[in-house]
Amino acid sequence: MKFSYNTVALVFDIIDKIFFRLGRNNPRKAIYNLIPNSSINILDVCTGTGSNVIKIAKDKPNVKITGIDNSQGMLNVGLKKISKHKLNNINFLLQDAVDMQFESKSFDYALISLILHEMDKNTSYKTLQNTYNVLKDNGKLIVFEFIYPESKKFLPNLAFKLVKKVEDDNLFPEFLSYNKEEYFKNNGFKIDKIHKFQYTVIYELVKI
Ligand SMILES: C[S@@+](CC[C@H](N)C(=O)[O-])C[C@H]1O[C@@H](n2cnc3c(N)ncnc32)[C@H](O)[C@@H]1O
Repeated sequence: MKFSYNTVALVFDIIDKIFFRLGRNNPRKAIYNLIPNSSINILDVCTGTGSNVIKIAKDKPNVKITGIDNSQGMLNVGLKKISKHKLNNINFLLQDAVDMQFESKSFDYALISLILHEMDKNTSYKTLQNTYNVLKDNGKLIVFEFIYPESKKFLPNLAFKLVKKVEDDNLFPEFLSYNKEEYFKNNGFKIDKIHKFQYTVIYELVKI
C-alpha cells in the first residue's frame, strides 16, 4: 500500500463497500457465512476497521473475536463501531502480526484478509507462522486476497486496475504470481476449499 493506514482509515469503509460488498454474491458475505455461531475463539489478524468481524460479532453472539492491527487509526474506526453496537464479544488490540502475544493453540479460527499481498516474504512468513502457532490443531484459517480478474468485464477490471495503482509495484505482482498451494504449504497450511469472486478469492485452509 502506497499510503499510511492511519490516513486510509478515514475512507477505508467507503472503499470497502464499493470494492467488496456490491452484489448479492460478495466476498464479505461469503466470509460471514463461513463462520458458525458456536462457542469459538476467532483471531482476525490485521483486522483494520473490522470489516469482516463487526457483523459476525453482532449476529453471532456465541463467537468470541480478537482483532489485532498495528494501525491505531484503523482500530479507532473499528472501536467506534464496537461501541455503537454495544458489542461485548469482540476485542481489538494494537499488536503487530509478526509479534503476536497469544498462547499457542488458543484459537479455533483465524482470518487474514487483504494483507498478505502487501507483505514481503519475511513478514508474511512470520505472520503465517504466528497464526499457525496460535491456531488449535483442528483450527481453520480463512484468507481473503486478490487474484487477476478472469473475465474481461469492464468494471471488475477497472476495480483491479485501481487496486494495482495503490499497491506496491513489486510486492503486489509478486504475491499474485505465487503458486498458492506451495505458498501456504511452506507455512504449514493446506488449501481445503477455494471460493473465487471477480477479482478476489477466499481460501479455506487447514493445518497440515
Ligand atoms: C487492507 S487492510 C485490511 C483490513 C481488514 N483485514 C479487512 O479485510 O478489511 C490491511 C490492514 O493490515 C494492517 N497491517 C499491516 N501490516 C500489519 C502488521 N505487520 N501487523 C498488524 N497489522 C498490520 C494495516 O494497518 C491495515 O489495517
